[in-house]
Amino acid sequence: MISKEIASALNEQIVHELHASNSYLAIASFMDGRGLKILAGFFFRQSAEEREHAMKILRYLLDVDGDVRIGSIPEPKADFQSVEEAVQTSLDQEIEVTGQIHRIMGMADDARDYPTASFLKWFVDEQVEEQSSMNDLLALVQMAGPNNLLLVEDRLLKQGAAPAEG
Ligand code: FEO
Repeated sequence: MISKEIASALNEQIVHELHASNSYLAIASFMDGRGLKILAGFFFRQSAEEREHAMKILRYLLDVDGDVRIGSIPEPKADFQSVEEAVQTSLDQEIEVTGQIHRIMGMADDARDYPTASFLKWFVDEQVEEQSSMNDLLALVQMAGPNNLLLVEDRLLKQGAAPAEG
């Protein structure tokens, strides 16, 4: 039902999503280590969302009888010089994932694989939202500067963010 080429690209995307999930765990831990509990909570939730993205792709592959092969997940970056660098890393990661999703969408279009194109539309929209929210967070962190990160936490709290537990 699904071509080997597209199934393989989706399997690779599962690894990218799990890598993003682990990367957000590393960033959440970095924030927590600086006492920034609201930012930590934000990134722990991002991590859970990325895992859910991987699961969505996995379930889709099962639905279309594609082979599921989970490749090895590269170790995420865990050392950052600043909160700004950690958030910039997150934004770069989202931009990369957007490119990956668009590439598979292009493959599905070329192959007239309408089910996969339809399935991926959710991811295209989700990336617009995730890139935008990470862009907003980076702007906020830059505006506050390294000594006023509690203002960033305050703003996130007002927007409904919850602190990391523990
Ligand atoms: Fe699932 Fe934000 O990449």
